Amino acid sequence: MTDISSHERLLIIDFGSQVTQLIARRLRELSVYCEIHPYQNVTSEFLIGFAPKAVILSGGPASVMTEGSPRPPKEVFNLGVPVLGICYGQQVMMHMLGGKVERGHGTAEFGRAYVTPEDAKLPLLDGWFDGGKEQVWMSHGDHVSAIAPGFEVYGTSPNAPFAITADTERNFYAVQFHPEVHHTPNGAKLYENFIKLAGFSGDWTMGAYREQAIEAIRKQVGDKQVICGLSGGVDSSVAAVLIHEAIGDQLTCVFVDHGLLRKGEAEEVVTMFRDHYNMKLIHADEQELFLGALDGQADPETKRKIIGGLFIDVFQKYANEIDGAEYLAQGTLYPDVIESVSFSGGPSVTIKSHHNVGGLPEKMGLKLVEPLRELFKDEVRALGTELGLPKSFIGRHPFPGPGLAIRCPGEITRAKLDILREADAVYIDQIRKHGLYDEIWQAFVAILPVRTVGVMGDGRTYDYACALRAVTSVDGMTADYYPFSHEFLGETATRIINEVEGINRVTYDITSKPPGTIEWE
Ligand code: XMP
Repeated sequence: MTDISSHERLLIIDFGSQVTQLIARRLRELSVYCEIHPYQNVTSEFLIGFAPKAVILSGGPASVMTEGSPRPPKEVFNLGVPVLGICYGQQVMMHMLGGKVERGHGTAEFGRAYVTPEDAKLPLLDGWFDGGKEQVWMSHGDHVSAIAPGFEVYGTSPNAPFAITADTERNFYAVQFHPEVHHTPNGAKLYENFIKLAGFSGDWTMGAYREQAIEAIRKQVGDKQVICGLSGGVDSSVAAVLIHEAIGDQLTCVFVDHGLLRKGEAEEVVTMFRDHYNMKLIHADEQELFLGALDGQADPETKRKIIGGLFIDVFQKYANEIDGAEYLAQGTLYPDVIESVSFSGGPSVTIKSHHNVGGLPEKMGLKLVEPLRELFKDEVRALGTELGLPKSFIGRHPFPGPGLAIRCPGEITRAKLDILREADAVYIDQIRKHGLYDEIWQAFVAILPVRTVGVMGDGRTYDYACALRAVTSVDGMTADYYPFSHEFLGETATRIINEVEGINRVTYDITSKPPGTIEWE
């Protein structure tokens, strides 16, 4: 949606590696604009139209020995720009340029390996091999058995005699390992050297992006009205502030309060966007509607479906009241739009139906404004900072659309929600006081559908038990429980029991994901 044609661009051709996105992350960190495209879409015409300043061929699960295995168009090697092949990318490069690739037979390598240098020096390896060797991450079944004409060897590992090769004349580089992963600790340096070799100036900054995005929004929307579902989460908040900066009062935000928000949350969002940013904001107080519909429901999927369905109805109702609305703004991010290469195919099992407003634009006949489509999550945070959103908003833990409903297993009652809100507030306060908030991906309390016996003072209590949850994660797909100290846990349990009426027992959830999920439902 923004005009990125004025930026220097790098093209990543994806052959289906699990870690292709990490290549893009490393490059964006170096202020280089890049896009990932599946190899099927990269035709010669596409390549010429894209006009990359450099190309990276990703890894992938296929074997170049197999009939019909993926290839980039051969024009990649005639563009006169630097090309870096990684793992499968290296093999495909050798294969297409006249080298030889062979099947495993004792030379397959998976996991940590060490690469040592050859005598010749290569600018790509500046800052490498200072300690005589470099740890890298290998993951290959096939291997290159003869390098293509023009290439020389610059690094070897015990099982990969051609771990690093290059044709310096043509600026082609090929590595057998994955420099983008954590287990290649000095890998970022290779990317830094590669983009230096390609002559990138590093023109991808958030300041520049902001200016361009604003221009693009104005151009797209003209004098029409835009509506935006504002949840108070980072993505929708940044999208709303950016669009507001572009078109001011042509934007109306709808904040749906389903009664399943945390303590003080609704007031915080409304004050921030209506009073501080001066946005047109509809505070849709629909607590009665949602809580009424959820009454007596205990099944997790039923609860999610009720909330998801009502959310759309409510949003639509308020949106219909906005005269002349033609656009719907969404905080879609780049990872959501990357078309991934699937070799296994087949639908995955539904673990939980996620709450979103997918399908709504078509249903309402609205066009989409998605100003964050080119950004990764941490870039959205950087843009938020650029736009002046407070740090406390930008660094917020994710909060699910169905809200506290999925942190209240069993039947939802107002009384239970009130207890949950109080306990959650104490827990988060503890985490902040101990300076742990930013180390944790997500932390919350779940109120359990059991009551247990306790003793307080001289009296018997019979109150709810709750579970504390805190996890570390990179993307929410996998997670580990956070290793709080016993002192922290003890102090937090004491505070919750003393300060929250209705809870007399506190437990800590130490399940990782998988096999658990982050939320309880
Ligand atoms: P799970 O529980 O599946 O959660 O491990 C992974 C991440 O997704 C969040 N989550 C949701 N976010 N709508 C959302 O917007 C939902 O329906 C939803 N369900 C889970 C969860 O909080 C965690 O960050």
